[in-house]
Amino acid sequence: MRSLIDILELSTEEIDQLMATAADIIANPKKYCEVAKGKKLATLFFEPSTRTRLSFEAAMYELGGNVLGFSEAQSSSASKGESVADTAKTVSCYADIIAMRHPKEGAPYVASLNASIPVINAGDGGHNHPTQTLTDLFTIQSEKGRLANMTVGFCGDLKFGRTVHSLIAALSRYVGINIVLISPTELKLPEYVRRDILVKNRIPYKETNNLESVMPELDVLYMTRVQKERFFSEEEYLRLKDSYILTEDKLTAAKSDLCIMHPLPRVNEISVSIDKDPRACYFKQVLYGNICVWL
Ligand code: CP
Repeated sequence: MRSLIDILELSTEEIDQLMATAADIIANPKKYCEVAKGKKLATLFFEPSTRTRLSFEAAMYELGGNVLGFSEAQSSSASKGESVADTAKTVSCYADIIAMRHPKEGAPYVASLNASIPVINAGDGGHNHPTQTLTDLFTIQSEKGRLANMTVGFCGDLKFGRTVHSLIAALSRYVGINIVLISPTELKLPEYVRRDILVKNRIPYKETNNLESVMPELDVLYMTRVQKERFFSEEEYLRLKDSYILTEDKLTAAKSDLCIMHPLPRVNEISVSIDKDPRACYFKQVLYGNICVWL
């Protein structure tokens, strides 16, 4: 086993194999119910989470393993000043694998350099979220029947949205992908993602602040929350937080087989009335997430 810090550490072949294994887990769950017997997962969550932590923990139980850990920094010795490196060395004495979420970019990487067991990045600041990307890829594959030849729109907070950065990186590996970036100027995709992923891989993309104008082109619409916890200014957050609210009237020009995704949690970005639209895939995405962290 090895650490997973960035989705690009997995080759396309490995991702395809993981997608196939996820499908097999759904078809034959009993086959996998003891594969982690006697193993312990440590969930070290220095930042709040509902889906990621609970999906890791549920998956470990479903694989026959056990879980230990903490769900907030305050209940760990980080609150007394312990470093990520020392925490990783310590937890290596108790567990077989670590899933770590941390508000600081790069913290899971530092943990992986110091742990003697594999470390999975469960979200580091506004940087990356590779296991959400496996979930997102599996959702797209399941709903659209393919990972290639489609136009994917990312809408909202593309600056701090770590799930956006990781999914764009993963999609850049597939042929015929067009990316549409929909955000206010203040929340545009970071330059390093644009340059190192989109430009370097010659992925066709465009940037706009107008969701309705691009809606008819989209096969997948990936909505995101404005990440309040990453803002330095409350005033700036309040000004930008409702930049995009997906309502039924905005979907009138959308394709009939549009796949609407959201990593969740949702605040205001998608009207609750859309939940019953057959194109709403965000709660299926949660269900697929439980399977993907089994992997
Ligand atoms: N998608 C996601 O990371 O959700 P949580 O913050 O609830 O884990």
